[in-house]
Amino acid sequence: MRKHRGKRAAVWACALVVAGLAVALPACAPQTNPGTSPPSATSPEYVPEANSFGVIPGRSWADQYPDQYSTYLQNNANAWPDDKTNKLEKYPEYVTLGKGYGYARFFTEAGGHSSAMYTVTHNGRITENSKTQCLACKTPNVHYQVAQDGNEVWQTNLYDTVTAYTDGTGNVADAEGITCASCHENDDPSQLHVLRADWQRALGDDADTRSLSGEVCGQCHCDYSMNAETGEPTSPYDGISTMTPDQALQWYDDHNVSDWTYESTGAHMIAVRHAEYEFNYGGEGNHMTKLGYDCADCHMAVETDSNGDTYHSHMWSDPLDNEELLQNDCNTCHQDLKAEVQQTREEIDGRTHQVGMRAACFVQNFEKARQAGTISDQDLSRLQWIQRASCYYWNLASAENSKGAHNKELFTQILDKADSLLDEGDQILGTPSTAEGFVSEYNPDINNKEYGSDHWYNQQPASESTQDYGTPEAEKYGE
Ligand code: HEC
Ligand code: HEC
Ligand code: HEC
Ligand code: HEC
Repeated sequence: MRKHRGKRAAVWACALVVAGLAVALPACAPQTNPGTSPPSATSPEYVPEANSFGVIPGRSWADQYPDQYSTYLQNNANAWPDDKTNKLEKYPEYVTLGKGYGYARFFTEAGGHSSAMYTVTHNGRITENSKTQCLACKTPNVHYQVAQDGNEVWQTNLYDTVTAYTDGTGNVADAEGITCASCHENDDPSQLHVLRADWQRALGDDADTRSLSGEVCGQCHCDYSMNAETGEPTSPYDGISTMTPDQALQWYDDHNVSDWTYESTGAHMIAVRHAEYEFNYGGEGNHMTKLGYDCADCHMAVETDSNGDTYHSHMWSDPLDNEELLQNDCNTCHQDLKAEVQQTREEIDGRTHQVGMRAACFVQNFEKARQAGTISDQDLSRLQWIQRASCYYWNLASAENSKGAHNKELFTQILDKADSLLDEGDQILGTPSTAEGFVSEYNPDINNKEYGSDHWYNQQPASESTQDYGTPEAEKYGE
């Protein structure tokens, strides 16, 4: 960590010279919350017992790291799914574009880290046949288990695995969710550590050239697919500089990767995940990471406890909700970051929605033409690829959770690419696709927030499901 702080100052000095920013130097020292000393990372005095998978439970660190632990519990306030938007209702193009795949059945906004074990077991995409691979982003247990028992673990039954992770109770509040060992050394939470093997491979040789602090977040906030044979999470990247949309699509094409086949058109589709890491760091990185900022600088503010010690808040929050951060840091360069981000979000979210509806109209036109039998074989395979690629770009934009804030330029570029592919598709079909021409297939009886399976897990109310903990430590230090 010390290494990365030093590097950040160096990067900053370069960026200033290169960008020639017309801002006063002292006002822009690259330190979050200027005036407070950076948190110190002290190794533990003793190491608590591991669970049966080898992971040291987060709650066992409550007494040695009370500030980090109690702020971790604050994530419980970002609960799921009660106040979360049903994305299928808001953006019905998902229902058409993802037809045949899980997200078209059930898709809400995300919740906080401490909801993850509940979210993954209680949602309309999960069935009795779902596999353990869904836990890759939810608990370190599964990575320890795979390291011990091999790749077969990914293909085993999800509910059986969760039952094992909760000592047979099925109460997900007892399971080890996104926890200290997801981002830190198992036996020393003062040290950052990349746990996931697929992500270590994805970072490649560039890993040391960027910040470890951002890389721990990238483990899950990235795009990936599931290997069709082994079931393991697989990344389209081999190095951070290769983490660009075009290179990922090329990789998916070269390796014949498809997540499902679109039945009526025969297109081989890719389901894209939340690529927050790539939008911040991929290729050369965005403006702010080039200045030396990390995910944590914006999403884990530095706070001071009652002893005057500083620490990183482990409540992963919206930087715009943190007036202190805005005032002491962001607004030393940005005139009004809230207004700036608001404008970007409106523009990019609105455009993504328009492109999505247009793509859905194109798919409906394509479907009709195919049913009518008017498409030549050669045109058919080109149209199928156009559907795959334009939906890839749209999905990349729509799944990235910042709605434009992280990298407006890249969002604009990929939406432009989707539009020009659709132009070509329209020309082949001889029918224009437009957002207005899209006929919604959203069905409130199916595409709602109801859980899919009637597995006994679904008896558990969300309010009793978040991580931890009701333990004596949690009562002592928690909310
Ligand atoms: C999702 C990833 C993540 C999880 C989960 C997580 N941390 Fe952290 N932790 C970080 C990051 C990032 C930093 C900041 C490192 C930096 O940039 O200097 C940090 C910093 C720390 C530090 C150094 C002091 C400080 O506050 O900066 C300690 C100690 C720590 N975490 C303890 C814990 C404990 C204990 C848990 C489990 C209850 C935990 N962390 C869970 C990512 C995580
Ligand atoms: C082990 C996987 C994992 C890691 C590592 C991880 N996240 Fe997450 N993150 C998730 C998942 C899964 C969710 C959604 C949880 C839910 O909806 O149940 C999430 C949600 C979030 C949210 C809330 C989103 C919302 O809409 O409210 C923020 C912010 C966030 N993560 C930031 C970070 C940052 C910053 C880091 C690194 C310090 C990080 N995450 C590391 C898996 C991870
Ligand atoms: C320069 C600051 C900055 C950096 C660096 C940054 N983010 Fe963000 N992030 C933001 C802003 C601003 C938003 C939009 C908040 C809003 O619109 O209210 C956001 C939104 C998000 C969201 C959606 C949160 C929500 O409540 O919907 C997630 C998840 C997220 N970021 C994760 C990450 C991860 C993971 C990284 C690192 C790979 C990262 N961010 C790096 C500033 C940053
Ligand atoms: C040292 C000056 C400086 C500071 C301090 C600063 N920024 Fe920036 N930020 C910039 C510059 C320069 C850009 C790129 C030009 C622009 O979009 O205004 C930028 C761009 C951004 C963007 C748009 C990213 C993109 O590529 O589209 C976000 C979001 C952002 N900053 C958030 C933050 C947050 C959150 C903080 C505080 C934690 C912060 N900034 C602090 C200089 C700064």
